[in-house]
Amino acid sequence: MKKFSLCLFLSAIAIVCGAKEINVFTPNTSLVLSVKEGSPVELLYYGDRLDNTAQLSAAQFQGEPAYPCFGYGSAFFNASALSVTHSDGDLATNLLYVADSYSCKDGVHDWLVHTRDSKHKFEVDLCYRSYDNCDVLEMWTVIRNGEKKPVVLEKYASAALPVRQGDVWVSHEHGKWAAEACLVEEPLNAGHFEVSDIAGTKNAFLNRPNILLSLDGKPSENSGRTIGAVLCWSGNFKMSIDTEGYMHHHLVCGINETGSRYTLKKGESFTTPALALVYSNEGKGGVSRNYHRWARHNGKIHDGLGLRKILLNSWEGVYFNVSQESMEKMMDGVRDLGAELFVMDDGWFGRKYKRNNDSYALGDWYTDTDKLPQGVPALEQAAAQRGLKWGIWIEPEMTNTLSELYEQHPDWVVANPGREPICGRGGTQLTLDMSNPAVQDFVFRVVDNIMKETPDTYYIKWDCNMEIINTGSQYLSADRQSHFYVDYQLGLIKTLERIRAKYPELVIQCCASGGGRVNYGLMPYFDEFWVSDNTDAEQRLFIQWGTSMFFPTGAMAQHVSASPNHQTGRELPLKFRFDVAMSGRLGMEMKPSDLSADEFEFARKAFSTYKDIRPIVQQGDLYRMISPYDNTGYASQVLVSEDKKQAVFFAYKIRQYVNQNKPRFRFDGLDPDACYRLTELNAAGAPEGWEGQIFSGKFLMNTGLELKLPGVYSSCVIKAEKVD
Ligand code: DGJ
Repeated sequence: MKKFSLCLFLSAIAIVCGAKEINVFTPNTSLVLSVKEGSPVELLYYGDRLDNTAQLSAAQFQGEPAYPCFGYGSAFFNASALSVTHSDGDLATNLLYVADSYSCKDGVHDWLVHTRDSKHKFEVDLCYRSYDNCDVLEMWTVIRNGEKKPVVLEKYASAALPVRQGDVWVSHEHGKWAAEACLVEEPLNAGHFEVSDIAGTKNAFLNRPNILLSLDGKPSENSGRTIGAVLCWSGNFKMSIDTEGYMHHHLVCGINETGSRYTLKKGESFTTPALALVYSNEGKGGVSRNYHRWARHNGKIHDGLGLRKILLNSWEGVYFNVSQESMEKMMDGVRDLGAELFVMDDGWFGRKYKRNNDSYALGDWYTDTDKLPQGVPALEQAAAQRGLKWGIWIEPEMTNTLSELYEQHPDWVVANPGREPICGRGGTQLTLDMSNPAVQDFVFRVVDNIMKETPDTYYIKWDCNMEIINTGSQYLSADRQSHFYVDYQLGLIKTLERIRAKYPELVIQCCASGGGRVNYGLMPYFDEFWVSDNTDAEQRLFIQWGTSMFFPTGAMAQHVSASPNHQTGRELPLKFRFDVAMSGRLGMEMKPSDLSADEFEFARKAFSTYKDIRPIVQQGDLYRMISPYDNTGYASQVLVSEDKKQAVFFAYKIRQYVNQNKPRFRFDGLDPDACYRLTELNAAGAPEGWEGQIFSGKFLMNTGLELKLPGVYSSCVIKAEKVD
């Protein structure tokens, strides 16, 4: 660890008279602000790093408002980031520059631009943070009410960015249950574009709070100026782009203001969630790799540099039919395969009401002694005896009307005051109100009690299967009902912080009916996420491809499941299923006893192979090559260790046509001047034949390999190692 003093450049707050530029930089990019005392802060430029910002005025660049406000001499109608009703009823805000500061500590750079309204004692700090290890730039605001009476925040976005018009395309992700993160790409035209969500708890199912803007026409994986924008928030969000004039598209990103007017009393402040921006000249792939490095190296995913274990999760093996015997049988199988962790999913709990299906017992976190007469500690022990770590499923923010918890605390559920709540999953599920400190304490204790009863618990799968469909809090007062969506998230984060303070080493998976909560608001508290409830390897290729735009492979839980697949009914070869799952955090979601003897042996070898390539797959840089979305019938990608000494290449065939064009399969991200020795992994049947062959990085990247990939659902995994 570097010493604080080594890099501490805290500049005093500087009051300036003339205009000056503030260069908010990352290693390769700059965002340049123009500030002048008594004037609004302007954003002049975002792109390649500039060390001489005077070039901008020489090139006659004109600024756009850095944080556009509603109501005072501004033409920004939809594109305002801040809209406030002040204490005297004034709807206008006019933020003027007051001062700025810069500091740097341990490779983290912080800029703060202090602004104040021209009429009210109402202040906003524009905050910017960058890191020496990636080109991600975080932007957020701190909004402070210095007025004598309360003010109401009607809209309080995190940040705005003007993007010069041209052939600009937007890529965003849309999904639903078992079909998350479908990539949608379209040109940006005049008018209003928006991706938003109002599901309350699961903000990544329908639309995700992440977009890409390709500035040089149709998005490309490896070339073209591309901007990424990711909102680090797990609640309702809105990312909008308004194109009203002829110069710029106006991107505004933040908490979705629908149903969320937020009152600040005198002296109170509100910190908006960060918008994480990336600018890259290397297309979508360049943007992705920056987000991945940022997440791994800067705590944006909990324990981002830790290696994840191979696990078996019991859900698709037995669903709710948990028992000592069924668990132990799966443990035996997965131990023989060489896995390292066993996770018992839903179905293990319930006292008065038993969790035999999804209508009962959420909140009653007592072992169901009919199913597990010796209790969970006996299972933890059974796992340990087999050399396996132990993990368990919970859904702590939820209850069922058929539960002891609901009988005792009907006032704890999310409900509109005075109305019967509408139920979700199983016809009886309800969400607990995380804005209520008593509920926060209860949720903390769900984890704490598990850790007390079974202290060797290594892993928790934290599920969340219900959106907020009863928008209201029984805890918040009548004049604070519109704080509910935001206070739910703040309560959840507070609880997770408390859990992390006590259990920093616990591995926690973020799950929400699959990938419903894959967002950077929660990932600092979670080690990984369940990508999707859809474990069909073909569909997973698409879901994983979309998810990897913003999230690193080491955090993506990818499990081999039974064939025919339980969601699609599709039959796929075991090798294909493994080759798809092995490009992320490998696991299994089936009874090992359902494998034939040959399959068992293949799986055993594949687990062992995975242990060898795990650091490359989980910590490497991802280069996506052939997109399954391009409908060629092929897909490929390569993961390259950060030192470029090792790489693992994956290719898949997912369609078969007569006279189908077959590409040469190229690598990327290697050292062009180095030589690499190839080894085929997971070979089954006739190998592709690359064993021991040596090629230059340049050849592999520019020319590529002829792969056989003989039939549909054939696949190939190749390890490349630098030869000294
Ligand atoms: C939804 C999750 O996505 C599944 O993996 C499983 O844990 C079920 N919930 C259990 O109810």
